[in-house]
Amino acid sequence: MKNFNYYAPTQVVFGRDTESKVAELVKKYGGKKVLVHYGGQSAIKSGLLAKVEKLLGEAGIDYVMLGGVKPNPRLSMVRKGIELCKQEGVDFLLAVGGGSVIDSCKAISSGRFYEGDVWTLYEHKDHATQYLPIGCILTIPAAGSEMSDGSVITNDEVEGWLKKDYCVNEFRCKFAIMNPELTFTLPAWQTACGITDMMMHTMERYFSKDDDMETTDAIAEAVLRTCMTEGHKVMQNPTDYTSRANIMWAGTLAHNDLTGCGTTGDWATHMIEHELSGMFDVSHGAGLASVWGSWARYCREENMPRFARFAHNVMGIDTNSMTDLEAAEAGIQAMEKFFASIGMPTNIHTLIGKEVTEQQMVEMADKCTNGDTLIIGGLKPLKKADIVKIYEMAK
Ligand code: NZQ
Ligand code: ZN
Repeated sequence: MKNFNYYAPTQVVFGRDTESKVAELVKKYGGKKVLVHYGGQSAIKSGLLAKVEKLLGEAGIDYVMLGGVKPNPRLSMVRKGIELCKQEGVDFLLAVGGGSVIDSCKAISSGRFYEGDVWTLYEHKDHATQYLPIGCILTIPAAGSEMSDGSVITNDEVEGWLKKDYCVNEFRCKFAIMNPELTFTLPAWQTACGITDMMMHTMERYFSKDDDMETTDAIAEAVLRTCMTEGHKVMQNPTDYTSRANIMWAGTLAHNDLTGCGTTGDWATHMIEHELSGMFDVSHGAGLASVWGSWARYCREENMPRFARFAHNVMGIDTNSMTDLEAAEAGIQAMEKFFASIGMPTNIHTLIGKEVTEQQMVEMADKCTNGDTLIIGGLKPLKKADIVKIYEMAK
């Protein structure tokens, strides 16, 4: 097993009515002037925002509001947030929403005291040294940003847009409030995108060259099986508390590094997808489903027994009489069948509703590898030409 450093400092407050604790938690982590950051309409319609305002007001905590975060959160909104924090003397960020709102908060956190342009951090050209603390009330289990160290931002100020991440431990939320009831209002599409994203966070860590982390593998396989069984239940009955709760907790465990202890992981599918959602503004989870099968077929020879194990332990296939290649293919097909069963696209045409052009595939592969200077993927190292091939297989 590889050496690892597991760091998960976020206080998780999970269950019914836990949002009632928001003021208490903000105070506990030193917030006196809060920026409440949120998305479009969902938190207004559900009454959650009004509840948060009431609770902060009653506790005597001063706050300012900033809504309008879009999925694939934009750099232009991050800049607004940074300015507002400076003007208002904000000392704590509260994200009310999903991965996009939390990631926007993280970017504001890193840009608040940084003297240069915040995008420089996402270009990995510098590191901020001071950050604002963040807490969140999660309304969609998907991205895992509530406990992760990452933030993904879309630069909407450049031609063709660019989606990039910045990862530091300071981005880990001080607390994450998770009430599964708050996810009852999620549309089927967003629920399915979330299930796909959390499964992919687990699979990105699972499909590596390593084979000696049985504890981690067993956790990962349980998370994946749970996502499928509870995922089907939730798709059929969106207000089933138990299934929503299981999915919500799975989404957090999938991306708080627990399923990656002792492995190197891969992450190519995520990088390949970020170019799709950067260029076509599609949902991240759906983008992942559209390319994973092609990635898996392109890379599986690097560790075929692991794909065979996945087919048996996760997809429940009787692989006894199969070669590793046959088992691997059966496992990949079963995974694609599951994605399709919850309404996810398994190719790019279905994802974007039109043919992706050769030029677009080359452009995405170019951005993904920073002009063919970066090699991506822990399982099979991929260059620009490999990524073009994967887009072609997935188109
Ligand atoms: O804007 P509103 O009206 O709130 O609607 C949102 C949004 O349209 C809606 N929604 C959220 N909670 C709801 C709800 N609708 C009804 N009821 C509720 N309870 O759902 C839509 C999607 O929200 P979003 O926050 O975009 O979803 P998600 O959590 O999937 O986040 C996706 C973003 O996270 C990034 C992705 O790239 C993408 O930009 N990721 C962040 C990661 C991280 N920070 O660690 C890792 C991931 O791999 C991912 O890249
Ligand atoms: Zn993801």
